[in-house]
Amino acid sequence: MAQTTPEILRRVDAYVEALCAPEDEALKLALADSGRAGLPQISVSANEGKLLHLLAKIAGARRILEIGLLGGYSAIWLARALPAGGRMISLELEEKHARVARANLDRAGVGGKVEIRTGPALESLQRMLAEGEAPFDVIFIDADKTGYPAYLDCAFKLVKPGSLILGDNVIRNGRVADGEPGDASLDAIRTFNRRLAEDPRLDTLLLPLMRDSLDGLAIARVK
Ligand code: SAH
Ligand code: DHB
Ligand code: MG
Repeated sequence: MAQTTPEILRRVDAYVEALCAPEDEALKLALADSGRAGLPQISVSANEGKLLHLLAKIAGARRILEIGLLGGYSAIWLARALPAGGRMISLELEEKHARVARANLDRAGVGGKVEIRTGPALESLQRMLAEGEAPFDVIFIDADKTGYPAYLDCAFKLVKPGSLILGDNVIRNGRVADGEPGDASLDAIRTFNRRLAEDPRLDTLLLPLMRDSLDGLAIARVK
């Protein structure tokens, strides 16, 4: 099932990006500086960034939680959807990623809206739960794939009716859909997808998206 991406999908992706999700200087520089600093080049695509931005706007988000910051590329798209006074918290394991992201967010003009918490996301989430953190309107999960099921458990305790739970990388070049046994990260994504789809508290779609290969975004709305 793992196949190379048809040329037509790449062409259409580039067409949509040029029309609907052109990157400004701050987004381009965020990617360039992340690359220069040696961060992995696994940010969301421009079109997925625009989709995250639109979803946050449609949800009227005032409070956003991101799990997996990297160099701050997706955080810029999300934070730019916040109204005046809106706030975002992003969780990141690596101090170096957080430092690169801080500079990228500041340059993009959204630094004041985004709080970065470094350390293992599960520990940060458990601390937030213990401290009675207010619910978020959007939670975007995009850190280590084996952690997704545990992040979902926490996410359920940090949302309210109408909130969105979003998860990146839920298609994995189609490997989620083949019957073959996967590795730990593929198994975790399959578990995450099944739980989102079957949970009666959620309305869910898994949306395939084009990037270097086919991947996708889980979109779940809390009833
Ligand atoms: N959302 C980003 C991409 C995130 S890549 C974007 O699209 O721009 C995944 C990030 O999760 C990496 O920066 C990695 O360091 C971080 N990560 C991995 N394991 C983690 C953990 N246990 N807790 C918090 N962050 C983690
Ligand atoms: C990987 C992680 C991501 O979040 C992503 O969007 C693409 C790839 C990875 O760990 O390989
Ligand atoms: Mg991702």
